[in-house]
Amino acid sequence: MTNQLPEPLNIDEYARSAATCLPQMVYDYYEGGAEDEVSVLENRRAWQRMALKPRVLVDVRQRDLTTTVLGQQIAFPILTAPCGFNALAHPDGELAVARAATAAGTIQVVSTAATYSLEEVAAAAPNGIRWFQLYCYRDRGITRSLVERAAAAGYRALCLTVDAPFVGRRERDIRNRFGLPPGLRWKNLEAHGFDKMDAGGDGSALKKYIENIWDAGLTWEAVEWLRDLSPLPLVLKGILTAEDARLAVAHGARGIVVSNHGGRQLDGAVSTASVLREIVEAVAGQAEVYVDGGIRRGTDVMKALALGARAVLIGRPYLWGLAVDGEVGVARVLELLRAELDLSMGLSGMPTLASISHNTVTAHG
Ligand SMILES: Cc1cc2nc3c(=O)[nH]c(=O)nc-3n(C[C@H](O)[C@H](O)[C@H](O)COP(=O)(O)O)c2cc1C
Repeated sequence: MTNQLPEPLNIDEYARSAATCLPQMVYDYYEGGAEDEVSVLENRRAWQRMALKPRVLVDVRQRDLTTTVLGQQIAFPILTAPCGFNALAHPDGELAVARAATAAGTIQVVSTAATYSLEEVAAAAPNGIRWFQLYCYRDRGITRSLVERAAAAGYRALCLTVDAPFVGRRERDIRNRFGLPPGLRWKNLEAHGFDKMDAGGDGSALKKYIENIWDAGLTWEAVEWLRDLSPLPLVLKGILTAEDARLAVAHGARGIVVSNHGGRQLDGAVSTASVLREIVEAVAGQAEVYVDGGIRRGTDVMKALALGARAVLIGRPYLWGLAVDGEVGVARVLELLRAELDLSMGLSGMPTLASISHNTVTAHG
């Protein structure tokens, strides 16, 4: 342990521990959201407002948490979400996450904004299953090169983030003049000269970076372009309505991540738990549906599965683990959530993921 606190027992304790070992600027960047952070809070509360309906007198001596996502078998239905700049939490950054996710038997979704290149991350855990999260640059040549590199490095899917034409107004980052300290860069963009985002300028360096080079003109045309460009299955991340979910399927998406970017983009956007079921219904099995935002307990995962998600993604929780104890911390966070899900299934009389159904969840009365 890099600090003197007792080993955290849950994700909130990891968050508190991380707060003691991270510089304020980094903690705020990880923890914060847009404007009043209403969607950050609501993501969390929406899971808590839901109640589980356990069954009894079921033999739960053995539980099976395995599933498949896009045809790949994983040990439990929790993926690590793409989060930028993992090396702000720990020098091993995305490499540590790659090793921990692979050892745990799950998928790492690697961000375009990684502090190690996508090839370095792949080499850190060659047997791992990983997806590449894509941000589209105005220069389609850059985007094309990222896509080709991801396929060449063995990534299994492209996860296009569609909720970030601009960066949300993250006031903590503006106040802290958020940017990257010396030595850290957008490693994937090195060859294109878009790797620098130094801290200490006027306001958030991230905001300026994004406004200068990302494509705010992205439409469904780009989804078709990507679908035709790459053999990798396409997952759209950042869908919050049934209408867009249907369009995603119509434009060839194989997966949808119901997400409001952890409350970091449009503040006041609906919580993900509150729209999950209608999106699952709209998609009607034509694509896999995943969800992220505010998942902090195994019971939250159960609720998501009950509402029809195939798997969930966690963002901040693994960043806290990484900050507290590097690869070991990420491994512990994944194991905590896996074990909580396992126990919740046991206590609910649902020994397999398939036995978790829409009858499992209701609103708190
Ligand atoms: C520090 C941080 C950086 C993030 N960077 C990215 C990113 O680069 N690409 C992306 O698609 N989403 C990014 N996200 C959003 C996450 O992928 C995910 O949607 C969100 O964190 C889920 O909510 P949770 O943190 O409550 O689990 C980021 C989130 C955080 C907290």
